[in-house]
Amino acid sequence: MRGRVTGQAMELLGSGGCRISVTRLFLSPSAKAAAPVTGAHGVGRRFRSTSSMSSYSELARERSKTVTSFYNQSAIDASAEKPSVRLTPATMLYAGKSPDGQHILSSARYLHKELPVRIAHRIKGFRSLPFIIGCNPTILQVHELYIRAYHMLSDFPAIQDQETEARYSKMVKQLLDDHKDVVTMLAEGFRECRKHILDEMLVRNFLDTTLTSRLGIRMLATHHIALHEDNPDFVGIICRRLSPKKIIEKWVDFARRLCEHQYGNSPRVRINGHVAARFPFIPLPLDYILPELLKNAMRATMESHLDTPYNVPDVVVTIANNDTDFVIRISDRGGGIPHSILDKVMHYHFSTAEQSAQDPRMSNLFDSMTNSGPQSGPMHGFGFGLPTSRAYAEYLGGSLAIQSMQGIGTDVYLRLRHIDGKGESFRV
Ligand SMILES: Nc1ncnc2c1ncn2[C@@H]1O[C@H](COP(=O)(O)OP(=O)(O)O)[C@@H](O)[C@H]1O
Ligand SMILES: [Mg+2]
Repeated sequence: MRGRVTGQAMELLGSGGCRISVTRLFLSPSAKAAAPVTGAHGVGRRFRSTSSMSSYSELARERSKTVTSFYNQSAIDASAEKPSVRLTPATMLYAGKSPDGQHILSSARYLHKELPVRIAHRIKGFRSLPFIIGCNPTILQVHELYIRAYHMLSDFPAIQDQETEARYSKMVKQLLDDHKDVVTMLAEGFRECRKHILDEMLVRNFLDTTLTSRLGIRMLATHHIALHEDNPDFVGIICRRLSPKKIIEKWVDFARRLCEHQYGNSPRVRINGHVAARFPFIPLPLDYILPELLKNAMRATMESHLDTPYNVPDVVVTIANNDTDFVIRISDRGGGIPHSILDKVMHYHFSTAEQSAQDPRMSNLFDSMTNSGPQSGPMHGFGFGLPTSRAYAEYLGGSLAIQSMQGIGTDVYLRLRHIDGKGESFRV
């Protein structure tokens, strides 16, 4: 379980970990032979692995080339100057499906132009990090993944026909997979260099921007790949008639299974309000946010009833739909969030998971978990659930608000804008 920030949902957004060092992309042929493939621990290992190098000067040369590859990237600089073109879901939805597949070609051409720009913006973000943070091996590894993706995407030839489009889609799919662990890696990297960080806002801004931009990139890329599929309910990643109740139920089942595994029981969940509502929406962000909120509600419920784990209050989920947006409220009776930590729960890396692990009543439960430390239990992660969910909701023009009734329980309100509502839609 170690290294998994927030369970299965993260995998939907997230990568298998690319293990090819960017160094290899930039080194001259002779130096290439000397540069070992970066291992699971990333860049650090490359510097250490000197057995194949005949002399210190070769090592020094490789090191300086690596550094150069991070700083001398005129192509990346030029792309980073360009503005990103964000689409409205309505544009994605009504772009028109042509039987000859022209819509797929134009979607690929848009991505071909847009993805390198968005990735260049992110690389600029990595370069602007304070040196001590940017040098963290895990963060550097993510930085390398982005540089590699930039070169693969921008070196790809213009998309002329279906054959190049098929190769392009295959590469995009591969990149999605290579990057699926990025959130976990960033969470670990920033945790490792927490002690060097004086300015909390710096971390928050970097993570908010990097994670939401990543969500946008993954939505666009997944949309393009899904355009190839023939599912009458979907246009790409947009579900024409999404049922909030159905998607809530899917994640309730998931969260209850985790909860039962960890606590031996789980609260029941009642869903009320506009249970029959259906409208066009993109399930992907909900697939991230809902499991996080449900896990939090269930964990609080179980941990505030450790003496009566087989008799716990229900969690209630209420759906409210209107012509501008829709709201999902998750109410638990898990004791609420104490006044003293209310302003911290939205901070990246803030978690009370370690404290609860120290409760002797929890020891059996934690011991039974797969050889992982208590902090990495599947019900909670690195304290990324709430801040990431809020960033995603805001990126999509919505909000995430918490009302704590200290002593009783917590209400979390997730508000998201309709794609085709009265108000202005969001952009991906
Ligand atoms: N429904 C809730 N009831 C009580 N406390 C909560 C609730 N949701 C979140 N919290 C508190 O906020 C903290 C941060 O939540 P989150 O960002 O999801 O991280 P994590 O679940 O990994 O700890 C939790 O550790 C917990 O203390
Ligand atoms: Mg959580």
